[in-house]
Amino acid sequence: MNKIIGILAGSLRKESFSKKIGNTLIAMAPQGFEFKIISLDDLPIYNQDFDDDNQVPVTYTTFRKEVQAVDGVIFITPEYNRSVPAVLKNALDVGSRPYGHNVWDSKPGAVISNSPGNLSGFGANHHLRQSLVFLNVPVMQQPEIYIAKSNELFDENGELKSEGTKEFLHKAVDAYIAWFNKNVS
Ligand SMILES: Cc1cc2nc3c(=O)[nH]c(=O)nc-3n(C[C@H](O)[C@H](O)[C@H](O)COP(=O)(O)O)c2cc1C
Repeated sequence: MNKIIGILAGSLRKESFSKKIGNTLIAMAPQGFEFKIISLDDLPIYNQDFDDDNQVPVTYTTFRKEVQAVDGVIFITPEYNRSVPAVLKNALDVGSRPYGHNVWDSKPGAVISNSPGNLSGFGANHHLRQSLVFLNVPVMQQPEIYIAKSNELFDENGELKSEGTKEFLHKAVDAYIAWFNKNVS
């Protein structure tokens, strides 16, 4: 049976470069793996009352089940004010509760950060890693995956036109799969 890797992009924007990177990865899944987008588009901001009062939005339940069903997770984060965009942090929070039911627990992960700027979302990349430590997501250390100039990489159909970036992403995916296979018995 195929291993399934969830891909989560930290942006709600229609033309999001993070979403485009995620869509590009789908075709890079090697034999024995399937890459699946897990959308964050409909997740309300986490409110603990929902769990405490047993009034959990359907979107939370669907999202938690989707994450539970995957074998690993690849996060693609833009950077907002040198940190993780609220939409992605919110997704981590929703999946981490109710207490004792953290759906991220032990899912081997990878972090890809990106930005139109040269710093490539470095701040977001490492803030995200901080939360993932607490959520018990082992994250691939190397290669670190930073994508700069995200606004120059795609054509008008949203296809990755930069061959260099395609090759880099392929190598990163190959490294993640090798690392995943080592970490999952
Ligand atoms: C509120 C806000 C804060 C931002 N802060 C940063 C930042 O700290 N560093 C950076 O490189 N880009 C920053 N940007 C620019 C984003 O990198 C850019 O909008 C990017 O395209 C967002 O990712 P997306 O294309 O996946 O939606 C910011 C954008 C917004 C809207």
